[in-house]
Amino acid sequence: MTTDANPTPLSMRTMRCGDVRATNIGQQVVLCGWVGKRREHGEHLAFLDLRDYSGIVQCVVEGTVDVRSEYVVQIAGTVAARPEGTVNDHLLTGEVELHDCVVTVLNAAEPPPFGVDDRADVDEPARLKHRYVDLRRPRMQKNLRLRAKVNAAIRRAMDVQDFCEIETPLLWAPTPEGSREFAVPSRLHQGQFYALPQSPQLAKQLLMVGGFDRYYQIARCLRDEDLRADRQFEFTQLDLECSFATEQEIRSFVTTAVLDAAEVGTGVRPEEVATMTWADAIDLYGTDKPDLRFEMRLIDLSEVFANTEVKAFSASTVKALKVDGGATMSRSQLDNLVDRAKSLGAKGLAWFKVTATEGTLGLDSPLDRFLTSEERAGFLAATEASEGDLVVVVADEYRLTCSILGTLRVDLGGKPVSEGPYKYVWVIDFPLFDGVDNEGRPEAAHHAFTMPHPEDLDRIESDPLSVRAQSYDLVLNGWELGSGSIRIHRADIQARVFAAMGIDGEEAEARFGFLLGAFRFGAPPHGGFAFGIDRLVAIFAGENNIREVIAFPKTQSGSDLLTGAPSAIPATQMAELGIRAVPKAT
Ligand code: AMO
Repeated sequence: MTTDANPTPLSMRTMRCGDVRATNIGQQVVLCGWVGKRREHGEHLAFLDLRDYSGIVQCVVEGTVDVRSEYVVQIAGTVAARPEGTVNDHLLTGEVELHDCVVTVLNAAEPPPFGVDDRADVDEPARLKHRYVDLRRPRMQKNLRLRAKVNAAIRRAMDVQDFCEIETPLLWAPTPEGSREFAVPSRLHQGQFYALPQSPQLAKQLLMVGGFDRYYQIARCLRDEDLRADRQFEFTQLDLECSFATEQEIRSFVTTAVLDAAEVGTGVRPEEVATMTWADAIDLYGTDKPDLRFEMRLIDLSEVFANTEVKAFSASTVKALKVDGGATMSRSQLDNLVDRAKSLGAKGLAWFKVTATEGTLGLDSPLDRFLTSEERAGFLAATEASEGDLVVVVADEYRLTCSILGTLRVDLGGKPVSEGPYKYVWVIDFPLFDGVDNEGRPEAAHHAFTMPHPEDLDRIESDPLSVRAQSYDLVLNGWELGSGSIRIHRADIQARVFAAMGIDGEEAEARFGFLLGAFRFGAPPHGGFAFGIDRLVAIFAGENNIREVIAFPKTQSGSDLLTGAPSAIPATQMAELGIRAVPKAT
């Protein structure tokens, strides 16, 4: 970078504000940026902070100069050492300042709606309405630059692993990811619609038939679903698919990309990614997204209460959670916990405070007097509880019991997703079907093209809900980062899975005809994966909402406060598209 005082005709500055150092003392420089803080010293001396994306440098301006906060200026000056006692250790440029400044106003600015330093606590709507000002703040600068670095690391990792980057259409046919789709009316084919892709799922499978072997894309995806901390309408995936690869190889490709991204994103390369079966995740953590930053596993008490007389515990499954030191909870805290369990579908929640009298453990609970001494002993042994602990118990059908306790586990022991340490886990062997629909037909857990586990193929018709899939999720700190599967590439297995789901040949042809057609022309065995880049970057950035790592996100209610979208379009455009708005039903 040149520090010549005169910028070349091709550049407006000789260096960046944040790069000025003691080694530049005596040099003439020209800098550009925004005016930050301004401090007056008498009538004829002012200290201006000049800011660009690289940092801030102090400029000492003599005489009167008519610039205000957020004016865009060019300042030519000489780098000088700061007088003794005025060095600012918090700034990389803190040893120097610019003297003999000549200030040229490149553009005046109205007073900004809020301060651009992170110290100003600005409410969300104001930040989103004036996002261009918010983006100047250090937090957003840091987050979006981190995102760019993570993207670059992912691209490098995929390139090194011989993946070919291919863009797939945004205007396309529906994809079977199970969310509501955004539809785009066609002007040339009035009354017909494109679907915006929920993911490049079908396109990437077609690319495998097309012989690309290893495909990836940093892909924009669109889903019309309810928004929350980890969900936006528009988001970005690292999407990949490969042919002739085993499930283990695919997971290893993804692991490499995620670990490379983590190294860039956090400065530390994680040592390992654990692996756990879906069945264990549900059994021990009550969820397919286990947060492994803390233990607090679900404890099975079904055996202890197998022949119980206690009505509350006569259920197929009895499970518990032990809260270390939780016996200090007040009655009203316990009542809230019971209400929370009920809101999750529990019939009730039993609680036991663990006490000790002369070294012998006992239980303090309204239910204690109904327990037999064997049950009490079995309970204490199974929970390994000590004096001062709290044990909460749910008894119900297996999946419901696990899911209620899984949620309470996070309520009681969890912490914000972005807080370290980072605990990655592969959850494998998901079930092929996740329950049944209203008509009793099994519903695909991932999607209808997921290959059943080879050992379970013979149960597709006889016991579909017990069939495992060759599908896998990657989880980080309790957030699902991504999902993938080996796909069905054989027509006979696909027909059996469709039949189990109640989709007949005609319906399959109507919905997925183009894919099934392509599969008749030499489809290689293939599988893939996609993970959410927004979620990954948010966690690396220490943010608990993906909005903070997206330049122009939507609000919770799906509005863009900056542009006013969504909004009505002119009647002429509606007519051209052949659509008419129907008044909202009340
Ligand atoms: P899936 O639907 O599980 O799989 O999506 C993969 C990952 O994408 C991210 N994600 C989202 N991120 C932000 N906002 C959303 N609304 C949103 N929805 C999903 C999540 C999620 O884990 N085609 C398959 C993958 C495959 O089988 O190859 C798919 O899209 O991080």
